[in-house]
Amino acid sequence: MWNPQQYLQFQQERDRPFFDLLAQVQPQTPPHTVADLGCGTGHLTAALAKRWPEATVLGLDSSAEMLSKAAYAGPNLTFQQADLREWQSAAPLEVLFSNAALQWVDDHARLIPRLAGLVAAGGTFAFQVPGNFEAPSHILLAEVLSRPRWANLQAESRDKATLGAFGPAQYTALLAPLGFTVNAWETTYLHLLPALPDGANAVLEWVKGTALRPVLAQLDGAEAAEFLAEYGSELARAYPVQDYGTPFPFRRVFVVARKG
Ligand SMILES: C[S@@+](CC[C@H](N)C(=O)[O-])C[C@H]1O[C@@H](n2cnc3c(N)ncnc32)[C@H](O)[C@@H]1O
Repeated sequence: MWNPQQYLQFQQERDRPFFDLLAQVQPQTPPHTVADLGCGTGHLTAALAKRWPEATVLGLDSSAEMLSKAAYAGPNLTFQQADLREWQSAAPLEVLFSNAALQWVDDHARLIPRLAGLVAAGGTFAFQVPGNFEAPSHILLAEVLSRPRWANLQAESRDKATLGAFGPAQYTALLAPLGFTVNAWETTYLHLLPALPDGANAVLEWVKGTALRPVLAQLDGAEAAEFLAEYGSELARAYPVQDYGTPFPFRRVFVVARKG
């Protein structure tokens, strides 16, 4: 289950790649059909509707919790609860956008060609996924999960092994043969996470909003507290707090692909 409050605790840092991606989406004519797949709370879908006021903009997400916060009205903006793995667009999409969502789908290398098929000729497929699967936050999570105490827990459901191998070159190799002109790149942001009330571990709070969700969902309150203390102490060593914040490097991979 997604927790919108937890996820948006670092909204400024999480939103920034969305706008860096959007800046590279330059359709030759204003699009009429736009979809944001895995739109979450919809506040960024609203930014798409504002950018292209003549378009019909759909925000789609499978999480009722996330969509319950999607209180952004607009004549050209609607939201739908659906699974992007099966969803079919009523009309070809002139912009298919997705920010920080496709990596949640197992075997996303098979998903991407399917989504590419929903894009109109001349349309744009733009997405961003985290590329931080080799970061200490993930390596330490796997290490703590491998300890005997937590042997019964399932790790993330994401296809991490496959995703870890996906960078700009691999996405280009997937989409270019399908007739797309691809602009793909990567950026490592150095987030300086602010000090939190009560000395809470900022990196732990960040990960609680995303990668830790599937783990915490399997634990009761006392077990969760124990797990968080164990993993949190590893994170505190890997990401020391400085006077100016907690430096948290975060790699992301971006793709803007134009069809035909
Ligand atoms: C990290 S959040 C990103 C939300 C939003 N795009 C943003 O940037 O704020 C990932 C979102 O993907 C959604 N998601 C994951 N798997 C999905 C699926 N199979 N179908 C639809 N949405 C999915 C989740 O419910 C979640 O809201």
